[in-house]
Amino acid sequence: MPSTDADLMKQRAARAALSEVREGTIVGVGTGSTVNHFIDALAAHVRVKAAVSSSEASTQRLRGAGIDVIDLNEAGEIGVYVDGADEATPARHLIKGGGGALTRENKLVERLGRFPLPIEVIPMARRYVADQLSRLGRPVWREGFVTDNGNHILDVHGLTINDPVSLERELNQIAGVVTVGIFAQRPADLLIIGTPDGVRTL
Ligand code: 5RP
Repeated sequence: MPSTDADLMKQRAARAALSEVREGTIVGVGTGSTVNHFIDALAAHVRVKAAVSSSEASTQRLRGAGIDVIDLNEAGEIGVYVDGADEATPARHLIKGGGGALTRENKLVERLGRFPLPIEVIPMARRYVADQLSRLGRPVWREGFVTDNGNHILDVHGLTINDPVSLERELNQIAGVVTVGIFAQRPADLLIIGTPDGVRTL
């Protein structure tokens, strides 16, 4: 199947990320279509010692490509972790966890929140967490989807995220929340953005 423009941009960004990975090291690998390109390029061009993976899907693809996958507890310090994002700001704050959401061509935004914010919750607390979140936006249960950890996802629509660091902290304090899809307290060190004119780094 021929690549779409969006897929080609993801592929370029994934290939550019290879230059951050050193031979013989342990690399952290995230999840998603951009990361799938990264795994393929990694297997072809860099001989790493092993990988630590953020999902069953990436673990399978890594092993299929001949890359050893080890448990995070065994790995010790990881030099580089490579992952995709659903939205990113110039401050390198991210929204992640979109998974099955539709592909968007431009993920670089001035303010996070147009992309529905994914929040992983323990199943028994889904209703409670949704009630708490409805003060801020419109939580929608991603029905039929179960995370690798056996949890559910609420996608929060209609958020205006002016202060991602505070919102991340606030949401993490709701009982029943496992992970919030805002990465702002620990932003990305480097953003690699695929564009129609090539790759841009921030
Ligand atoms: C998975 C993620 C993905 O990295 C994010 O959704 C981007 O995905 P893609 O590379 O397919 O556009 O956070 O939980």
